[in-house]
Amino acid sequence: MKTFKTVVRLLRLVKPLIIELMVAVITGVLGFVCVSLIAYFGATMFVNKKIDNTLILIIIALGVLKGIFKYLEQWFNHYIAFKVLAHIRDIIIKTLRRLAPAKLDNKDKGDLIANITSDVEILEAFYAHTISPIMIAFIYSTLVVIFISLCSLYIAGILLLSYFIIGIIFPVANYKLSEKLGSRIKEEEAVLKNITIENFDGLKDIKQFKIQNEKTIKMNYQSEKLESLRKKEKHHIGIMHGLIVVVELLTIFLIIMISIKTNIEYKIVIPIIALSLTSFKAVINVANVAGILVHSFASGKRILELVDEKPAIEDVVNENDVQFKKIEIKKLEFKYQEKNILKNLNLSIKDKDFIGICGESGSGKSTLLRLLMRFYDPSFGEILIDDLNLKNINTSSLRINQSLVTQETYLFKTTIKENIKIANLNATDEEIINACKKASIHDTIMKFNKGYETIITNNINISSGEAQRIGLARAFVSKSNLVLLDEPTANLDALNEGIILESIKENDRTIIMVSHRRKSLSICNKIIEIKGEEIWK
Ligand SMILES: Nc1ncnc2c1ncn2[C@@H]1O[C@H](COP(=O)(O)OP(=O)(O)OP(=O)(O)O)[C@@H](O)[C@H]1O
Ligand SMILES: [Mg+2]
Repeated sequence: MKTFKTVVRLLRLVKPLIIELMVAVITGVLGFVCVSLIAYFGATMFVNKKIDNTLILIIIALGVLKGIFKYLEQWFNHYIAFKVLAHIRDIIIKTLRRLAPAKLDNKDKGDLIANITSDVEILEAFYAHTISPIMIAFIYSTLVVIFISLCSLYIAGILLLSYFIIGIIFPVANYKLSEKLGSRIKEEEAVLKNITIENFDGLKDIKQFKIQNEKTIKMNYQSEKLESLRKKEKHHIGIMHGLIVVVELLTIFLIIMISIKTNIEYKIVIPIIALSLTSFKAVINVANVAGILVHSFASGKRILELVDEKPAIEDVVNENDVQFKKIEIKKLEFKYQEKNILKNLNLSIKDKDFIGICGESGSGKSTLLRLLMRFYDPSFGEILIDDLNLKNINTSSLRINQSLVTQETYLFKTTIKENIKIANLNATDEEIINACKKASIHDTIMKFNKGYETIITNNINISSGEAQRIGLARAFVSKSNLVLLDEPTANLDALNEGIILESIKENDRTIIMVSHRRKSLSICNKIIEIKGEEIWK
């Protein structure tokens, strides 16, 4: 995406907050006007060699006003940044939901989250400290030039040229010089963040395999690499600030020369010089934000590219709802990128069938369940539900009628009851308790102090087997007609497995259960073995 397009799209997000932006800009300009007037009146008193009490009072009042204006400017800038970022976070979450799960499967989640978090932080600097300073500098420097042109057109012209050099030429040059460096710093920061997270997540294994030294060396190497890039960036900024001072001094020198040549009184020139010096501050702010711009545009580009990414499967609406009385898989083929997984798979499933699926690790069992959920579309062949192709069935109808239990159940940081209720918001307490009894988890829940009201936090140690049984309780409480179970008893002992398999069998629904253990599948009506690219019955 072109930088210009990125900037336009980032700026468009501020449109609903245009009034707040105007207030921030006006208060910012007024703050600078106060500073300039303080300098102007101070210099006037100095050249007149006379203490003027009224002027002193005005200067004090201007000082207080400047503080108030600065506060208001900052308040509105942060209000804008807060609102825009909340909106951006909302867009990102919606995008991730839209892309999940297919488009997120091959993305490193840690990497993605680390990048999004730092990109959003960088955009905060853009919305809070970039847009209004640029507008303020533009308006304020125009006011100063107009005011000074009333005394001398030459001096106004010189000032205009300096503003142009400091506020436009330098930032653009700095941007061009730092653009690539900025992206590299961002990449290396993400690498360092990931190494840190990996060191934390893998603590147990790092200790067990005694690889602390290797990990520390890797982290130090990355820190040093980043540090040297940052030094380079600071070096550019340092040079730019040195050049700014040179331009300021040259401007003052030229103003003095012009006033001598055109016979302007020193009583007028000194206040003008004081005013010019303070006015540079606003323009220098623009030069300073060039660095923020480099990072902001790179971050904005990455976020917008993610937002623009098309999902592998678009949601279907306004088509057909189904009952899930019959499933037919015809000549199904599937490949991830170029890797063949399933080939010529044919299967008929009737209402209330209990189908077992087994096969070697990596043979495509979980993939088949994902295809039935329509997380992916087949590469060839079709899946028909009640004689309708999966592609022509409303996504909402699929979600209502299917529940999937996998080896890993994600538990939200809320009560156990709420965690189960997400599968059926209308479930009564009695239904939830029944479902938990069937999933053989009721007794464990009752041992917690607050029973079903216990909030899942990092301090409540739920084992993977317990989490999986909560996942099964979700399936039991749901009203879905088709239950897809991917190794539902993998984390369980034989006793719990037996109880659960019986409960599953008693459940009056169509069930497809994947398991490594052939023995667990003996309870099914029909067992299918997926073997390589063929299928055996
Ligand atoms: N998102 C993906 N992108 C690319 N390849 C994938 C993806 N997901 C799975 N695979 C590959 O597809 C093959 C089948 O994966 P699948 O998870 O369906 O196997 P499985 O039969 O369920 O294995 P297991 O018994 O170990 O759970 C594996 O070789 C796996 O590496
Ligand atoms: Mg699997």
